[in-house]
Amino acid sequence: MAMRTAVIPAAGLGTRFLPATKAVPKELMPIFDTPALQLVMDEAIGAGVEHIVVVSNVAKPGIEEYLKPSQDTVDRVRKSGRTELADRLARIGNDVRVSIAYQDKPRGLGHAVSCARAAVGDEAFALLLPDEIMGDSSLLLQMAQMHNATGKTVVGLKRVPKDEVSAYGVITTTGTTGAHGEVTITGVVEKPKVEDAPSDIIIIGRYVLAPDMFDILETLAPAPSGEIQLTDALLIGANARTVDGVVSDIERHDTGTPMGWLQTVIELTLKRSDVGTELRNWLKGTLS
Ligand code: G1P
Repeated sequence: MAMRTAVIPAAGLGTRFLPATKAVPKELMPIFDTPALQLVMDEAIGAGVEHIVVVSNVAKPGIEEYLKPSQDTVDRVRKSGRTELADRLARIGNDVRVSIAYQDKPRGLGHAVSCARAAVGDEAFALLLPDEIMGDSSLLLQMAQMHNATGKTVVGLKRVPKDEVSAYGVITTTGTTGAHGEVTITGVVEKPKVEDAPSDIIIIGRYVLAPDMFDILETLAPAPSGEIQLTDALLIGANARTVDGVVSDIERHDTGTPMGWLQTVIELTLKRSDVGTELRNWLKGTLS
């Protein structure tokens, strides 16, 4: 069955971004003028999903506020003549079905995914981590097509310089790569030390998970930290050879740290046709 639903985990407390995240959920911090959450929702919609499940935390009411349609805001902006922006605002929370699931405590990515189970139902779904922003929907589309062909879980991957691997899940493969980066994953380890990392191929926060992943997650015992790791479920799938991946060269930005977020804002704003030139000229002047 085609992938209909995307899950976006957004329940984390954003400790690395304090004090900003005391009031503003990290997923709503703007990339110039658009929340990262919106960019990730747009990527999912571009890959054809009809339903988005955002996993939030009751301590982050801003997420719900953002996803609620707001006719007042739309009317105010339309009155001021900014029709394109008004149309864009009118689409938020209306262009596809949006549900919110709640994670009571930060108990790991695997637990956050389990919290979306009732909203997703017993079918394959996309999982997009909003810390990472991709240039377009092409990788997710490719992964959905691979899942449709095989029924397997598919994970988005990228080669990075070896000294960057420790912040990510790192995988091993059978060693054979298809014409479009397709691999079969044989192992995965979460955030290894550089010297222990089995490869330079990391998981980049895009997944198409087969429904059996929900069952596997329920069998997992929490780590001593109390967290249930998605990586542990992927390892069980990898051992059974039911997890494929795509080693992709897609444009990717990691907003997971304040510096990564700032670099993302600058890089993506430089690409904009409306304000990119102005920013480039200002940067040149400031740096000279
Ligand atoms: C999570 C995953 C990790 C993956 C990363 C991608 O880690 O656990 O395997 O490589 O996302 O961004 P987190 O960044 O939530 O610590």
